[in-house]
Amino acid sequence: MKTPSTGKSSIRSMKYSLYLISLLIWIPTEVISAQQPISTQGEKLFIGYCSRCHGIGGTGGEGPSLQGRQFTRATEESDLARLVLTGISGTAMSRTWVTRDEANQIASYVWSLARVDDQPVEGDPLSGSEIFSGIGGCASCHIINGKGVGIGPDLSNVGARRGIPFLRESVVAPGTSIPKGERGSHSNFLAVRVEMNDGRKMRGMRINEDAFILNLRDTEGRYYMLQKGHMNKLTREFGESIMPGYGSTLNSEQITNLVAYMTSLR
Ligand code: HEC
Ligand code: HEC
Repeated sequence: MKTPSTGKSSIRSMKYSLYLISLLIWIPTEVISAQQPISTQGEKLFIGYCSRCHGIGGTGGEGPSLQGRQFTRATEESDLARLVLTGISGTAMSRTWVTRDEANQIASYVWSLARVDDQPVEGDPLSGSEIFSGIGGCASCHIINGKGVGIGPDLSNVGARRGIPFLRESVVAPGTSIPKGERGSHSNFLAVRVEMNDGRKMRGMRINEDAFILNLRDTEGRYYMLQKGHMNKLTREFGESIMPGYGSTLNSEQITNLVAYMTSLR
């Protein structure tokens, strides 16, 4: 008679301790998620609105890395909320359509990223700068601090404008970063191909265009002013670049050094 009753009570106490254990497991997770709703919300909004340009976690891409650095355009958290609501004119970053509360939540998340330890940049910037003005031939199309030729964008502060993945992509596969249509961050760097009625053919950078005239500069630096009335064919090469891809002419160490150099330009 004794044995079954001890059996029953030990089963009961086992059930009770299982119940206690499940409480112990369950309570802490509830507490954690209740403690962090603000930053989690800011992070969610960041992933939705910002990460396609700044990377998940703010590691950088078409826009600069937002991790572990002093911002050039923000000295306090409220400046960040303002940037979100206004955008940055003349750049790819247009205003984000969120409420002021949401902007504040994003700002507090981004502000917290500034205190994340900056990842050390791989590669040797000094050797990268030698490749830039030497074998890379980059200075024949890009100006840095007043030196070089301005066929492509000025790169003097490209490290503050672009993240590492974008810089690498720009060098290896230039076509990926250029205009897909008349609007966009590089719509002022559109390659055009022209065939004139007299048979002349040329390809270059569109400098200017109106209803009657097209100005272009070719890769040799020659400048043309062409009348549209005398053109047989005009092709706007959206999505194509006059910048050569360097994926096969430079090795991966050289490209890494170039990217390190460009990242240092702030
Ligand atoms: C379409 C791409 C794009 C999107 C989307 C975008 N940004 Fe940007 N952002 C950029 C670019 C490009 C720059 C660099 C502008 C420049 O200085 O030329 C930039 C700059 C910034 C800067 C300034 C960094 C500094 O050093 O001062 C902050 C902060 C920033 N973005 C935050 C955000 C946040 C937060 C969001 C989302 C609400 C966002 N961005 C969405 C492209 C983007
Ligand atoms: C024949 C001219 C030419 C040469 C040579 C050239 N580029 Fe470019 N580059 C351009 C043009 C034009 C653009 C504008 C976007 C495009 O067409 O891809 C550009 C865009 C870029 C960008 C993107 C800049 C931004 O703000 O988005 C980077 C980075 C870059 N080039 C780096 C380099 C490096 C590094 C080299 C040398 C290894 C180089 N370029 C050689 C013409 C050139």
